[in-house]
Amino acid sequence: MKVIICKDAKEVGACAAAIFAEVMNSRPTTVLGLATGTSPLPLYAKLVEANQAGEIDFSTTITFNLDEYVGLDPDHEQSYRHFMNQNLFDQVNINKKNTHVPNGIADDPDLACMEYEAMMGDVGGVDLQLLGIGSNGHIGFSEPGTSLASRTHVADLTESTIKDNSRLFDNADDVPRQAISMGIGTVLDAEKVVLIANGENKADAIAAALEGPVTCMCPASALQMHPDVTWVIAEDATGGLRHFGK
Ligand code: GLP
Repeated sequence: MKVIICKDAKEVGACAAAIFAEVMNSRPTTVLGLATGTSPLPLYAKLVEANQAGEIDFSTTITFNLDEYVGLDPDHEQSYRHFMNQNLFDQVNINKKNTHVPNGIADDPDLACMEYEAMMGDVGGVDLQLLGIGSNGHIGFSEPGTSLASRTHVADLTESTIKDNSRLFDNADDVPRQAISMGIGTVLDAEKVVLIANGENKADAIAAALEGPVTCMCPASALQMHPDVTWVIAEDATGGLRHFGK
């Protein structure tokens, strides 16, 4: 387990971007697992910059996003498909046909979950998985209490997640109550994982994930079982660490 502590969110983005560049430049086709939220924004800005400078190429890259809100149309401003198009896909030389985000408006969401898993399997699985972390320790939308062996599923969002994410919606009541999310088992199948975090509101989750017991009550703690995970954390999110923070 590698833990890198950075000065701030911008440095976290630069550090994670260097890991992305290394992986993407070391193989002809990279399968990326991608995340949304505010934490990945500096990373995506760096990747756009590197692509425009010709330092990394997305033309053969395949992507799978972690999650999507149930009930939001891909064109909805708060949908994760919209977020990805706006912050990354529309700004790099990626073939949109190679980008995948769970279908939040599928007629049969359970079937959509199974198909999502199958699509990942068809391309040989994820090479590099990016994760943020919820203030309650969730990864993707795999909330506390989700089985450590879970696969892509329809997830019920916890009240604390709905409250955290309501900042991005006009009204708290507009936040969907469910999402389609990769499972913890899905994430653990990736060859390499990078988890990024910043902000004091993440300090307890980071401490529980890195130094607490492996438990479904802190989904990110499952990463302790992964053989190649790098935690890139800004100083302001390290307040609860006793071992790694020193
Ligand atoms: C959402 C996403 C997660 C993300 C989390 C933290 O709940 N489903 O994938 O890690 O928010 O977001 P932020 O980076 O904005 O704190």
